[in-house]
Amino acid sequence: MCGIVGYVGFRAAADILLDGLEQLEYRGYDSAGIAVKCEDEIKVYKAVGKLKNLREELKLHIKEFQNSTMGIGHTRWATHGAPTVLNAHPHTCNCGSLALIHNGIIENYKELKTQLEKEGCIFRSQTDTEVAAHFIAKKYAQTHDLTEAVRLASKEFEGAYALCVMHNDYKNTIVATKRNAPMVVGEGEGEYFIASDVPAIIKYTKKAMYLSDNQVATITPNSIKLINADGSDAVQKFELLPWEPVALSKMGYKHFMLKEIHEQPDVIRNNLTGKLKTASDPVVLDEVKLTKENLKDLNRIQIIACGTSLHAAMVGKYLIETFCGIAVDVEASSEYIYRKTVTDKHTLVIGVSQSGETADTLTAIKQAKAKGSHILIITNRPDSAMAREADSLVAVNAGIEVSVAATKSYTAQLMAFYLLAIYMAEVKGTTDTSILQSLKNELMLLPQKVEQVLANTDEIQKCARNYSGTKDFIYVARGINLPTALEGALKLKEISYINATGYAAGELKHGPIAMLDETMPVLSILMKGTVYDKLLSNSEEARARNARMIALTNSNDPKLEELFDCIIRVPDVQEFLSPIIAVIPLQLIAYYIAEFLGKDVDQPRNLAKSVTVE
Ligand code: G6P
Repeated sequence: MCGIVGYVGFRAAADILLDGLEQLEYRGYDSAGIAVKCEDEIKVYKAVGKLKNLREELKLHIKEFQNSTMGIGHTRWATHGAPTVLNAHPHTCNCGSLALIHNGIIENYKELKTQLEKEGCIFRSQTDTEVAAHFIAKKYAQTHDLTEAVRLASKEFEGAYALCVMHNDYKNTIVATKRNAPMVVGEGEGEYFIASDVPAIIKYTKKAMYLSDNQVATITPNSIKLINADGSDAVQKFELLPWEPVALSKMGYKHFMLKEIHEQPDVIRNNLTGKLKTASDPVVLDEVKLTKENLKDLNRIQIIACGTSLHAAMVGKYLIETFCGIAVDVEASSEYIYRKTVTDKHTLVIGVSQSGETADTLTAIKQAKAKGSHILIITNRPDSAMAREADSLVAVNAGIEVSVAATKSYTAQLMAFYLLAIYMAEVKGTTDTSILQSLKNELMLLPQKVEQVLANTDEIQKCARNYSGTKDFIYVARGINLPTALEGALKLKEISYINATGYAAGELKHGPIAMLDETMPVLSILMKGTVYDKLLSNSEEARARNARMIALTNSNDPKLEELFDCIIRVPDVQEFLSPIIAVIPLQLIAYYIAEFLGKDVDQPRNLAKSVTVE
């Protein structure tokens, strides 16, 4: 979604802003702009589309801003108003002396706009952001103090926002504030960096602080002053960020997605470290802050998530119900928040989110927290807003994920669920020790098995080439791999724009089978175990309708040769762990098809890495 970068210091501001925005490109956007403080005025430059268009625009004006050492920059993912130059940020007040960038949505913007129009403000865009620019300018006219103007104005804003403001009267000052949207300030020697996410600043400094909601920061090259919403002083706490700049390099891979797929064996290892020593030791999960008594008393769990995280949650439900005997509901956060949910202090609510910032999931967990439920967050970003809401925080250690299509974070989330399910089963004593031991044994062997899949991609690439011309694609599975089918289909549609759908194979005959003919690829996730035979007969039903049949399997069953046109084999693994082994070829099929079709793999159209609006 939208990206924010700000800089005050001694270097060429435009270069730092563009570089920072480039690091946030992966989040998804459709226009971009910067405002820089020049000799005696603020200059604003904007362009629709990718950052290269903004770079072209800037080349035409380079003399105007080359000496500027302060500015703000933004990548916009359109919400209110189309992606046009007029709607792109930064926005200014009518006289052009105040410029502002904004992430989030000012929900009461219509009322504020009506009021401002009555007072003579002329609006040039359709955005809620322009309202904030005029409104802060109005407060500035009353106070002649930029910090105070931002503080007073934001008290009247409703919704979620992160704002950076500069004013012509201030040679080297940026004022920033936020509510329910992330904002980080990085400190250098004689310079400060502001951003909506760490990748924009990590190249320059690791010393950083996260603004808290409603704090206002006044930043100059050599100082930062923080106040609270009531004007009182707030404490500044700079810390060293745990990120390395190298995490943001493709390391020789053509795309971040391919690099991240190949990182999965290490991601699994990282998630086992310290938590699972040997198969006979119990899982250590100190992150779970529920007492053993609380855990034993639990009679219900709700898991809420979006997108890929929702699929991880579905696997989690299967594991927890099987091993712990607790009823688990899984629901898309966007549905959860608009109905009366039955949640109380006896319910454990688990939020799953790669980014920890997804607006729907954040709202859902806040609602559950208000009802007294214990909140357990599974996230890749222990520095995120969701992490701050957590009573128990399980960080999944996937490292920064740049590609919009989630891959390694999914595997990491699955690992969190395996460990959580085993941990709870051990505390509650709900599953036979020998079953848990064999599961733990195999968990430790998983990294090598994933490596084997990654080392043998010929058949996967061949399959991707053969089916890249298709308009539709069906994935079928049953049991614990139904979420794998949904995730495989999601990956394909996200990055290749092919109409891919995952179905519970038993449901084929209740509708989807009508679509099958000799043009339709049907991929069966045929992993050995309880539902293998059932899925095999569902696959026969599809073959009988002449569908183009693909098997993803760990079986050597000779029947498969007759039934399937293409067979992708994966190492043998017990059924409970098969979702990890099975998803890797599906990620790769999606990747190779999209790559073959020449799509923008890492930044697919219309999508954002982290969706910070509901
Ligand atoms: C966006 C991304 C998806 C992601 C979903 C949930 O739609 O494009 O890849 O799965 O958000 O994100 P989260 O950060 O909450 O896991």
